[in-house]
Amino acid sequence: MRKVAVGFIGAGAFVRGQHLPNALRIPEIEVAAIADLNSRVLEELSGEIPLRYTTTDYHRILADPGIDMVIIGTRHEVHAELIQESLVAGKWVLCEKPMAQNEAEAAAIIAAEKKSSGRLAVGFNRRFAPAYRLARELMRPVRAPWFINYRIVNQNSHALADSSYSHESRMLYEGCHILDLAQYFLDADPIRVYMTGDRYLNNCCILSFADGSQFQILCASVGAVAYWKENMEIFAADKTIGIQDFIDMRIRGFEGEADRLFAPHLGEQAAAVAKYGFEFYEQYVVARANEYIPEEYRVDWAAMGISNPPIRRPLPPAFRLDDFHRANQRMRFFSADKGWLQSLQHFARCFLSGTKPENADALAGAKVTEMTFALLHSLETGETVDLREWYRRKGWESR
Ligand SMILES: NC(=O)c1ccc[n+]([C@@H]2O[C@H](COP(=O)([O-])OP(=O)(O)OC[C@H]3O[C@@H](n4cnc5c(N)ncnc54)[C@H](O)[C@@H]3O)[C@@H](O)[C@H]2O)c1
Repeated sequence: MRKVAVGFIGAGAFVRGQHLPNALRIPEIEVAAIADLNSRVLEELSGEIPLRYTTTDYHRILADPGIDMVIIGTRHEVHAELIQESLVAGKWVLCEKPMAQNEAEAAAIIAAEKKSSGRLAVGFNRRFAPAYRLARELMRPVRAPWFINYRIVNQNSHALADSSYSHESRMLYEGCHILDLAQYFLDADPIRVYMTGDRYLNNCCILSFADGSQFQILCASVGAVAYWKENMEIFAADKTIGIQDFIDMRIRGFEGEADRLFAPHLGEQAAAVAKYGFEFYEQYVVARANEYIPEEYRVDWAAMGISNPPIRRPLPPAFRLDDFHRANQRMRFFSADKGWLQSLQHFARCFLSGTKPENADALAGAKVTEMTFALLHSLETGETVDLREWYRRKGWESR
């Protein structure tokens, strides 16, 4: 079978926890080369994975005609430059979010994608989360307007540390996932957007659509460590779908449909989740997540002054957490399935078949950047922003 030869640019925490192990599991992909500035990381990886080569100079990967696709997993400030260089080199490019940090970068990426024989996928993996794909399919025939409530809230160690993240609005690097999900889920662009809250960490947003649909987002960095991060609730006509952290899906008002449980990422603890449900998942995450995380990335909440007492439910659980042990020893992060592997596999398959990917392309990424700045403008002025007008100024059609 012809495989897609993939080169990585940046092999930091997220790439080593997600894209790299996922790529190694995808039969359509050969992990061919890795570039990182850190030669110790390269040494470690070349000892673990059969690679063609590693390099501290990513230009080697871009100049290599044997590499079909690159995965960019560096920090935010160099994404735009690396995407453009990769597209000029004719590569297919999957770049982590955010695609761009300002409007000029977004415009340059759109132009580069147009000229390139390659294609761009922005790492908006939630489009591919199995629970969200099913929800989208079920909702397709349901009449508008839809009312969607999305919560993405967690106690966020980046917010407390003086990291590169703490100088940007969380909407730009995290809320962006949900802005993309909204435009993908409704297959339309919002016409008006509004945001309240503070500059960096805690926001409420409303996205209004032409058909009357409303998508509201609570994106915040406060609250108990022992509470799951994401929730989506969809209400329309006589139907409701509620999804707790990509795992527990309640499907109500749809004839013949039952509630579902989705396995965590890579099926880790799938049997226990199938048997004991969300109750097991939420307690397992809180009790065990740290055991999966490599030492250097573990969060010491107590040292940050954050209390994290164990969960105590009103009824005794039907399981003993002590009976459950890590099934996949190589897994670096225990998580719900947010569609990371599927988004990469889909992109690789599209490369092989020459079909148009469903991943977010340059225009979708640019619209998310624009939407974020429109929301920040709304925050500053206290006014609702007419997004159609902002898109028109860019020469983009609103869908
Ligand atoms: N989609 C998601 O769910 C998700 C989750 C977490 C992080 N992310 C994203 O992943 C990206 C990386 O985050 P991280 O926390 O892993 O960062 P990190 O700092 O741990 O890793 C970045 C790596 O890039 C390397 N690098 C930087 N410049 C380079 C260059 N010119 N050539 C080669 N290598 C270079 C660094 O040496 C480092 O190893 C960010 O964009 C972040 O937003 C996505």
